[in-house]
Amino acid sequence: MDQTQLATILSDLSLGGVRYFDRVGSTNDEAVHWAAQGAPALSLVVADEQTDGRGRAGRHWYTPRGAALAFSIVVYPTTEESENLSRMTALGALAVCVALKNRYDISAKIKWPNDVLVDEKKVAGVLVEVQWNGDRLSSMILGVGINVAPGSIEAIHPGRSGLHYQAACLESVLGRPVDRLELLHAVLEGFLYWQPRLAFQEFLQAWESRLAFRDEWVQVISDGKLGPAPNNGTTLSPIQEGQVLGLEKNGSLKLRTRSGEIVALQIGEVRLRPAMKTSAEEVSDVRRFTSTSQ
Ligand code: BTN
Repeated sequence: MDQTQLATILSDLSLGGVRYFDRVGSTNDEAVHWAAQGAPALSLVVADEQTDGRGRAGRHWYTPRGAALAFSIVVYPTTEESENLSRMTALGALAVCVALKNRYDISAKIKWPNDVLVDEKKVAGVLVEVQWNGDRLSSMILGVGINVAPGSIEAIHPGRSGLHYQAACLESVLGRPVDRLELLHAVLEGFLYWQPRLAFQEFLQAWESRLAFRDEWVQVISDGKLGPAPNNGTTLSPIQEGQVLGLEKNGSLKLRTRSGEIVALQIGEVRLRPAMKTSAEEVSDVRRFTSTSQ
């Protein structure tokens, strides 16, 4: 992958500028920096390797050279987009799902709010970060990380077998090599198709139809600290179990609790795991493996 190849393959898409890096800290940081310098709307930053890639909740996102797809898009949000922040994260995940279906016939699901799962394993994640100018939202960076080759998940597998959410990579799912440029093009096509439809009911339906664990019981786990953990990592406290009913208009997740109450969970509040293990087992797993989000 290089700047010329990228510019050529993406030339039919309505993007702003395109910047390629062999190695970078985080493409989100580069995109923030570029936006502050006046990057055109929908500019794209792509890196072959990230040395300081970020996932949600401050976790590390592993992007070794030649094995993954890591990119960030600069968005100057419309009022509608500013008011639909949760949909922006879903937009990234939906774009990945659409690309996987259209290009590779892979049926992926969205684990609310931002993980893309194939066969219940995480293949991609989305990180949306916003920048403020006073009380005005000045720019928004939508970062997407996709595990492509086995090298993208090798370092994060050891010791993780106790987690429900193992990572997977596309090449293992497909059993053949994946052209990262072709994949990137397909994801960006999905992004550009759905972005103008963000506020539509059609968008919510497309998201909801790919929602993982629909009708299943899940454990809802908050991001709150339980107290000092053995490894100083953030620990998660299970709150309760709920049955996934669908989405609210604002992108909240609708759950039925064991007591029959219907609750709507706001984005960023929880992580979901299938309600299979006991809470105590789950917490001990999470304490052991908190260093990466893949
Ligand atoms: C998550 O699942 O926690 C979100 C992962 C997002 C990773 C991508 S890779 C490109 C962009 N740059 C970053 O530092 N993070 C995002």
